[in-house]
Amino acid sequence: MTEQVALFGPAGPELRIVEDLVRKIVARDPPEVGRPMTELLEAGGKRIRPALVLLAAMCGKYDPGHAVSAAMAVEVTHAATLVHDDVIDRSPTRRGRPTVAAVLGDEPAIVVGDYYFAKAYEMAAWTNTPEVVAVLAKAVMEICAGEVRQQSIRYRYSTGVDEYMRRIEAKTAALLAACCDIGALLGKLDQEPRAALRSYGRELGLAFQIADDVLDYTGTEDEVGKPTGHDIREGFATLPLMLASIEIDDDRRLSEDEARNIVEAVRRSDGPNQALEQAGNHANKAREQLNKLPPTEVVDALRALADYVVSRKL
Ligand code: IPE
Ligand code: IPE
Ligand code: MG
Ligand code: MG
Repeated sequence: MTEQVALFGPAGPELRIVEDLVRKIVARDPPEVGRPMTELLEAGGKRIRPALVLLAAMCGKYDPGHAVSAAMAVEVTHAATLVHDDVIDRSPTRRGRPTVAAVLGDEPAIVVGDYYFAKAYEMAAWTNTPEVVAVLAKAVMEICAGEVRQQSIRYRYSTGVDEYMRRIEAKTAALLAACCDIGALLGKLDQEPRAALRSYGRELGLAFQIADDVLDYTGTEDEVGKPTGHDIREGFATLPLMLASIEIDDDRRLSEDEARNIVEAVRRSDGPNQALEQAGNHANKAREQLNKLPPTEVVDALRALADYVVSRKL
């Protein structure tokens, strides 16, 4: 986390406060749910979502009390989605440690996730701004709809790029857009800059998820803290595979040998590079939105984030 602080510019010190508060609040939760969440928080995480709330809020009249509550709410929401995502994706590791599901089992992990979705709305309510709760709720509903759609195409390797883009829009871009929207709302920005920040968050989210899907092929577990080559093993075709034009028969789980060969073939292909190029295009579109805002140190930090999401190794 420490090395991340510089990346978030003026939001860095505030983010520390967010992290400390979340830690203290979770420590007071019943240990059955609090302990696994503390583990997940302590294990790391880039904290990009709360940073977006803070930076977007700093584009306007920054009110630390409310912005910090909203930043906590989005990170806790994110953590809850990760706990559930690791059940769905049957992932053994997250942030370099065993997942909540691996330690406690799927059933308790689902309830731990549920608890922290509820907690996140409670935190959002601390902003005394019902629209914050509504924007967050809408993003979570979109994530859920996206996850269900993703389940329906599991083992359908022939799904195309359009379907992929719809999927990542729902499962990732929706929350990053909501983070910027919530920050802008709390900063009392006018409609136009608020819409620009929301679009920035959406484009950033698309770039972010494409980069994540590339790292699943090109990264190592040591770097990313979660298993690599895992998406195809779990039956999910992502952009690097689609652009590598590798044909796979639908409707069955791949054997370990097949999966290994496909991962190797994708790595050798130009698919990952082409996918990163597309991530770069979305990062550019994100940056373009920032031109609608007056140039400040805060906007510089948002611009730097757009570079970071594509070049990151974690
Ligand atoms: C992981 O999100 C889930 C995706 C949307 C790809 P992050 O990559 O932000 O996870 P942490 O919080 O840094 O661990
Ligand atoms: C993450 O997608 C989506 C959500 C957390 C809702 P991935 O399944 O690609 O995320 P990782 O790779 O497990 O972090
Ligand atoms: Mg996953
Ligand atoms: Mg992934």
